[in-house]
Amino acid sequence: MKLFHLCQIVSCAVLASCTSSTPESTFIDDLMSRMSLEEKIGQLNLPTGGDLQSGTVFGPELDSLILKGRIGGFFNVKGVKEISRLQHLAVEKGSHGIPLLVGADVIHGYETVFPIPLAMSCTWDTTAVERMASISATEATADGVNWNFSPMVDICRDPRWGRIAEGSGEDPYLGAKMGSAYVRGYQGENLKADSTLLACVKHFALYGAAEGGRDYREADMSDITMYNYYLPPFKAAIDAGCATLMTSFNLINGTHATADGKLINGLLRKDWGFDGLVVSDYNSFPEIATMGTSTMDEAATLALKAGTDMDMVSGLFLGNLKEAVEKGLVSEKLIDKACRRVLVAKQQLGLFDNPYVYCNPRRAETDIFTDAHRHAARGIAAETFVLLKNDNNILPLKKRGKIAVIGPLADTPANMVGCWSMHAQTDRYGSLLDAIKKAVGDDAHVLYSQGCNIYDDETMQRNATGSRPIPFIHDTRQLEREALQAAGQADIIVAAMGESSDMSGESASRADISIPSPQRRLLEKLKETGKPVVLLLFTGRPLVLDWESRNLDAILNVWFGGSEAGDAIADVIFGDKIPQGKLTTSFPLHQGQIPIHYNHLQTSHPDPQPGVFNRYCSNYIDVDNETLYPFGYGLSYTTFEYGKPEISSPTLEKGGTLTLSVEVRNTGEYDGIEIVQLYIRDPVAKIARPVKELKDYARVFLRKGETGTVRFILTEEKLKYYNADLEYGYDPGEFLVMIGPDSRNLQTLSFQAK
Ligand code: BGC
Repeated sequence: MKLFHLCQIVSCAVLASCTSSTPESTFIDDLMSRMSLEEKIGQLNLPTGGDLQSGTVFGPELDSLILKGRIGGFFNVKGVKEISRLQHLAVEKGSHGIPLLVGADVIHGYETVFPIPLAMSCTWDTTAVERMASISATEATADGVNWNFSPMVDICRDPRWGRIAEGSGEDPYLGAKMGSAYVRGYQGENLKADSTLLACVKHFALYGAAEGGRDYREADMSDITMYNYYLPPFKAAIDAGCATLMTSFNLINGTHATADGKLINGLLRKDWGFDGLVVSDYNSFPEIATMGTSTMDEAATLALKAGTDMDMVSGLFLGNLKEAVEKGLVSEKLIDKACRRVLVAKQQLGLFDNPYVYCNPRRAETDIFTDAHRHAARGIAAETFVLLKNDNNILPLKKRGKIAVIGPLADTPANMVGCWSMHAQTDRYGSLLDAIKKAVGDDAHVLYSQGCNIYDDETMQRNATGSRPIPFIHDTRQLEREALQAAGQADIIVAAMGESSDMSGESASRADISIPSPQRRLLEKLKETGKPVVLLLFTGRPLVLDWESRNLDAILNVWFGGSEAGDAIADVIFGDKIPQGKLTTSFPLHQGQIPIHYNHLQTSHPDPQPGVFNRYCSNYIDVDNETLYPFGYGLSYTTFEYGKPEISSPTLEKGGTLTLSVEVRNTGEYDGIEIVQLYIRDPVAKIARPVKELKDYARVFLRKGETGTVRFILTEEKLKYYNADLEYGYDPGEFLVMIGPDSRNLQTLSFQAK
């Protein structure tokens, strides 16, 4: 029998600010004493250096800003050669030779692309996330980047929002674990090393609570909800030493997040003690005005006064700040503070000692898209897949007979990588179809048909596949005929369907989050053949899968698994690897249930019974309240049985600990990993607390037939929350503690906290 002891991850030291008198701060004092007001304002300017989609670099404009000292850094330029040229220009010909920050959105990998962050979170594996972030940092720095606009830690309860793909789901505890793992991976032990870069936690704050899931919409929220559910991942990233932070571009209770002094100067800087660089999101400054919270003239000073240091793209600091100082609207001291933070960030990277630390063209040849990185990405991708259904153990498939691979997402490498993968080299890796053919070799015969379009409407298909085109086929009857012919000859049908890459991510909200109709229709036809149908679901968000869950034999949610997704999927469907991911976001049964999250509050009326409509319960007339697949859910090829959990004492003394233990037995036919989850409920508190909240978990490997005991240590820290006065603490009394394989299947014990 195995014993798993769980220890808490100790966050790495918070990066020290350099405002006290150290050789570093003296260096910056001296430098700033020689800078003009215009040059200091220049450091606060972060223009886009180009357009990654088209590969354009705004060369002459950038050169001139650099030479005049009107720029602190840039982003959106790919390639160490050009970046190096710009850095040389700044250091050798720019005013005071101040090196540049070079930013990029390396959200889930660079040229080696890893699964989207939502998928990464379904591993519940912080080591994997850290490894992925560290490889991303190695590749990005090898190409000249020194500042990464990641991690995105926005909690999201509304899967219509496309950017749910970029975060770690709906839970603050898991979100916090993931957020700090990204930071550790990007920044490493030593930020001055040539393979680490500045992390930037974003989007501060509440971007994920955009009303109706419509991107860029306002969030209207109580402080209690914000502090208890939306802020913990930010706090965790800061505590892990995240060097920089990005504000968001939404309104929070009527104030633009980028001009929200209570949030930035108050909470972030004063309460949390964060003295790092705060950058706005893309063009946020003028949006403070367009969203009706200032005139265009005031926007920049409002943002600066609120605590935002750097202006991404708009140029308003450059245009307005000098005049604002002259008119007495803003003090030069504030500009000094912001400028210092930019310079400190450069110092933390070691750029003043060696401005060319990230400008080594040899590294670009040896450290990017390496076999080792691709191997890691393949292994990690396999960990992210969530097996939602597997009737009669149809998966894993045998490598024999005839396999029909059908669907518009089967043979499009560009659409396996997901949103924010603009550094991907889509011609350097194969498709899912290629991987399946390679995996079976001569042992099985693979038939293929695209089968249908993504959408019925050509314009919608174009919207859905903008940067990763999938040609729209007009002769849909012929497409369907081919698919049914392939299906007719096959022993098993593997359908690769769902969303294309561009259907999630920024500005990719969907009102209807089911599988688009031509794909669903084809699934119905495939089902009619009577052959077993396995759905490989590509998606950047939870989808409504009611029909699919009732009619298909198996559903493996493969998200967007990155450049190595094809091989990783083949590994899992043929049983070389075992699925082990568990959902970090609820899959609704019906769109009308949205917003949806497992950690909701109790209603005034009794809980409705699934499948029974009860008048005067908080239930829908037409649909159950229950999710289709709950938070924490995921199957394996093997099965696990839980024993009766035990608690070391009925009382948690002040400052003491309790041990919760449960035996878990692998009762199936494969070795496998189980994610054992622990939830807590406080039935009586000063304010209503959720019906359950994740507070710990363990990933345990058990060989077939093996039993292990999982132990969780409970401390009063796990019971704390922010009350109506925003005091952080807990209320002594009874607590329920629940253990199980997902948020729905739990065994409950109770204890008293003193
Ligand atoms: C996004 C940010 C991103 C920035 C720079 C914005 O549109 O909201 O997440 O970092 O662009 O590309």
